[in-house]
Parts: sequence; C-alpha cells; structure tokens
Amino acid sequence: MTGSELIKQLFLSFNNNDNDTFVQTAREYIEREKRKKHTIVAKELEKALYQSATVSSSQRRFKQHLPIPRDTEKGFPLLEIQHFEQDFDSLILSTDTKDQLERIIREFKDADILATYNLSYKKKILLCGKPGTGKTFSAQIISSVLNIPLVYIRFDAIISSYLGETAGNLRKVFDFIESGIWIVLFDEFDIIGKNRDDNYEHGELKRVVNNFLQMLDNFKGDSILFAATNHQNILDSAIWRRFDAVIYYELPDEATRQYLFERYLRPIKRDKKIDLSQAAKDSQGLSPADIKMITTEAMKTAIIDSRNTLTMDDLEKAIEQFIRREKVKQHGMVDE
Ligand SMILES: Nc1ncnc2c1ncn2[C@@H]1O[C@H](COP(=O)(O)OP(=O)(O)OP(=O)(O)O)[C@@H](O)[C@H]1O
Ligand SMILES: [Mg+2]
Repeated sequence: MTGSELIKQLFLSFNNNDNDTFVQTAREYIEREKRKKHTIVAKELEKALYQSATVSSSQRRFKQHLPIPRDTEKGFPLLEIQHFEQDFDSLILSTDTKDQLERIIREFKDADILATYNLSYKKKILLCGKPGTGKTFSAQIISSVLNIPLVYIRFDAIISSYLGETAGNLRKVFDFIESGIWIVLFDEFDIIGKNRDDNYEHGELKRVVNNFLQMLDNFKGDSILFAATNHQNILDSAIWRRFDAVIYYELPDEATRQYLFERYLRPIKRDKKIDLSQAAKDSQGLSPADIKMITTEAMKTAIIDSRNTLTMDDLEKAIEQFIRREKVKQHGMVDE
C-alpha cells in the first residue's frame, strides 16, 4: 500500500471504531517510514501510537486510587509514585535484551486483542544482572514510553525493618497496586531470595517470601510488575517460575561501551584527538552506569578548568580514577 492509502485506511478504521486495523495500519505506516530511513518521524509516531493505544486503560487509570499505603509501625510510605520522560532510545542494550523489553510494551499495548484469544500480556517480569546495567532504568523507560506512572517499591525497606509487619505491609502494597494501572517496580528484590538457608530470622523471612509469592500468584490487577535483582543466583526455582519472563542484563561489550562514551559525551565539544575506541578498550568490565560516572567526571574537569573542549587526557584520567576507586572498593587497598 502507498502512504496515502495507508492514511486513508487509518481514517476509515478510526471511523469504524476498528481498533485492530487501526493499530495494524499505523504500524505498517511506521515500518514504511523506517524503511525510508525517516528514523525520527518513525520514533515520534511509535511513541504517539503506544500512548494512544492505552487510552482505554488510561481512563481507568485515572479513577481514584487508594491513598499511598504506609508502614503500620513507623508510618513511612511503602511506595512512591514517579513520573518519567525518557525515550526508549536512551536505553542502550544488546538487541536481544532490547527486543524482550519492546515485546513487553507491545503485548501490553495489544492487551485487548490478546484477551479475545484468552491470552494475557506479560505481567510479571524479573530483571536480573550486574549493578548499573539498566534494570531500574528500564522500568522507568517503560513507564515513560507507555505513559503510565511508575510505582516504585524499595523492597528491602519493606522487609528489613520490621519482619513482623512485613506481611501486612505487602498486603497494603498489593491492594494499592490492584486499585489502578501502573508500571510497578519491586526494586532491590534480592532480600527475598537471600539468606533463605541462613539461620538469621530464617523462619520469619521464609514466611515473608511465601507470602509475597502467594500475592504474586494471586495478583489480579492490570499493571505490569517488575522485580529487579543483581543476585540472580540466589533466587531459587520457586521464585523463578512465578515470572512470565526473566530478562538478563549483560555488561556492555566493547562496541557498546564506545557508543555509551559517544552518547554521554554529547553535551561537550571534544578534542579531535580524542579516541573513544581506546576509552572503550580501557573500560572493560564496566557498566553503563560506570561509564556515565566517568564521562561526567571528565566533562566536569574540562569545565572547571575553563576549557570548552574535552581532551583525551581528561577522559583517561577519569577512567583511571574510577578503576582505582573500584579496586579500593573490592580489596580495600591500592597497589601503586
Ligand atoms: N543500559 C543502559 N543504557 C543507558 N544508560 C544506562 C544503562 N544502564 C544504566 N544506565 C545509566 O546508569 C544509571 C543507573 O542504572 P540503573 O539504576 O538502571 O542500574 P541497575 O541495573 O538498576 O543497577 P542496580 O543493580 O545497582 O540497581 C541509569 O539511570 C542510566 O543513566
Ligand atoms: Mg537498580
């Protein structure tokens, strides 16, 4: 179909209230723009489409939700509602990982169509991988792309302070989530799988774990639930099988690291002799968050030295300093 035929079909399907054809045609049109290398237009359209397709859910979303639940004992809020505005593009991951995230977005967007086949979109997703690889960031981006607020839950905060209160707190959190449509992130989910064989408060913690898993099983809401951890090895199969998808976050390879340097250094003018491929080599084993920190430091050095150009020296020093700091963190000393 030509571009104008596609647009005509869009209008017709809109008039006929034919959501399936509408979305399908819109997608075709976006694909067409992509083929024509109109990347920015395609991206804008994609964003607009993802948002418009959740209109029906967004209406429900704005119904009155419950007040923010608080800890029974101390009264601190058990969750936080956050809003983000970030492009899907600012997430830099291997194609495979990114595809999995995109798939989650598309299933959510097509929830109504899936439901006619008695199928559900992925609702419970476990994100695991090394620190600083983008797990928390991914939940923020998905919240942003779908234009649905993020309910952020620091899992350890709920659990650690008052084990006795935990079950009640969790119940309140789930009641709240089920009262609306959210992107939910149980962050720092580690504690639930940690120490399950330790003696320390073992019985109590185990009860909490089972409690949470039960609530996860019985979850009936329309939200997407993410749980993030960087200790995937300690989560056992009882936990794993509760999730509809498990997504791994790998450390970036050399080419990706080079791209990360490139991205993060965009705000500043760079000396011609700057060699980002060298920076990528020197930063082996580092995460996107590490590289972000390095580039921020390097840019700040140039700025406080009243230079408007970043040099290779700035960058190399920042990398060296970072690596030295990591060594101290790991071994408690530095060998010169
Ligand atoms: N894959 C990525 N692409 C782009 N930026 C990233 C990526 N991963 C991390 N960052 C940057 O680093 C910051 C910190 O990352 P994030 O908090 O998502 O890490 P995490 O995987 O949740 O780590 P942790 O396990 O320590 O919680 C992000 O806000 C973002 O700016
Ligand atoms: Mg995190």
